[in-house]
Parts: sequence; C-alpha cells; structure tokens
Amino acid sequence: MIIAIDGPAASGKGTLGKKLAAHYGLRHLDTGLIYRAVALAMLEGGHPLTDVVRAEHAAKSLDIDSFSNPELKSARVGEVASIVSAIPQVRAALLKFQQDFAASPPGAVLDGRDIGTVICPDADVKIFVVATPEVRATRRYLEFKAQGLPVMQADILADILKRDARDTSRAAAPLKAAPDAHVLDTTALDVDGAMHAAIALVERARAGRNP
Ligand code: DC
Repeated sequence: MIIAIDGPAASGKGTLGKKLAAHYGLRHLDTGLIYRAVALAMLEGGHPLTDVVRAEHAAKSLDIDSFSNPELKSARVGEVASIVSAIPQVRAALLKFQQDFAASPPGAVLDGRDIGTVICPDADVKIFVVATPEVRATRRYLEFKAQGLPVMQADILADILKRDARDTSRAAAPLKAAPDAHVLDTTALDVDGAMHAAIALVERARAGRNP
C-alpha cells in the first residue's frame, strides 16, 4: 500500500505520515527533508541559490544518512528548501529516489507537496492536509519554543504565508491537491483526532468505498 500525504508547511502532515506508517507497518519518507538537505548543501557551500548547476549537483549527490542532521529542521533551511525546490532540475534529480522508495515492499507513506500529483499519482490513498495559517504558525511556534529557540510567532506566520505562496505558485510541481485526494482539515484537531480521521480515510479507501 502507498499512502500519499501532501499539504502546506506545519499542516501536521509529517506527524501524520510517521504515525500512519507505524500503524500500517509501512516505511515512511518525509520528502521535505530531501529538499532541506539540498538547501543545506547550498548554504554550507556558500553557493548562490540561483545556481541551478550547483543545486542539481547537490540533489544528485544526496546522502540519506545526513537526513538525521537537526540543522535540516531550522527555519532558515526550510525557507531555502522552498526556494531550491522550485528548480525543475532539482525536482527531476530527486524523482527516481522517491518513486523507488515508494515502490519498495511492503509499501510506504510519503509526505510532501507533490506526492499525490507527481511522485505517486497511483497511490492507494491520497490525503491533502490543511489547517489555517494561524493554527500552523502556533504549532510551529510551540515546537521551536519547546526546543528553547528564541522565535516570534508573528515571524513564523509571515514565513508560513511566504512559503505557502512560493510552494503553490511555482511552475514545477506546485503544492496542490490531486483531484482524487481527500482533504483533511486539522485546524480543530489534535494529533489523535487527525490520526483517527486519517485512518478512517485509509480504511474506507481500502474497503473500496468512496468516503
Ligand atoms: O515539508 P517541509 O517544510 O520540510 O518542506 C520544506 C520545503 O521543501 C517546502 O517549503 C517546499 C519543498 N518541498 C517540495 O517542494 N516538495 C516536497 N515534496 C516536499 C517539500
């Protein structure tokens, strides 16, 4: 089984992806980490973010072992990931890795922006997770605060709005719901509530019924 989860920044798709994978015994890939790794390589190399050749090279030489680097989760790396992920050559270089991951037994949950539309158009279940920008900013703020990071909620909201605009308006694989995706609004849901709703969607899809 392949479950595709897409949605904007801090919508809860990552947590949901991880939990759904554990629940169904599937592998999990947070595809945002891939673009974040490319972003970090560009930053560490001191390369201009417009350098398509360097960005494509970084994408082609990705090291999966580096995905656990906590630096990948920083706000700056997220911002740069949103910029380099708009480069079509970067996306093309990362396509096969993601599709191979999805196709390997016993199946997988992938979360990102274009999983249901580009990476796994034939996924068994597609979930498009949404939440208001304000709720997403609050969640991110609490996450950063728990890590002792000095952040302002207003800055996080501004960052989220900027990233939403960039991720949805780019020409290459923009963030959008696949026509056959089920929209899951987590604005008023906690993690357990979102998980409950997601499992219900998966179960209905598995039973061959239309939710
Ligand atoms: O999900 P995230 O915040 O870790 O993603 C960081 C950026 O990477 C996001 O702003 C856009 C890009 N991204 C993408 O273009 N396609 C994906 N499948 C996942 C992430």
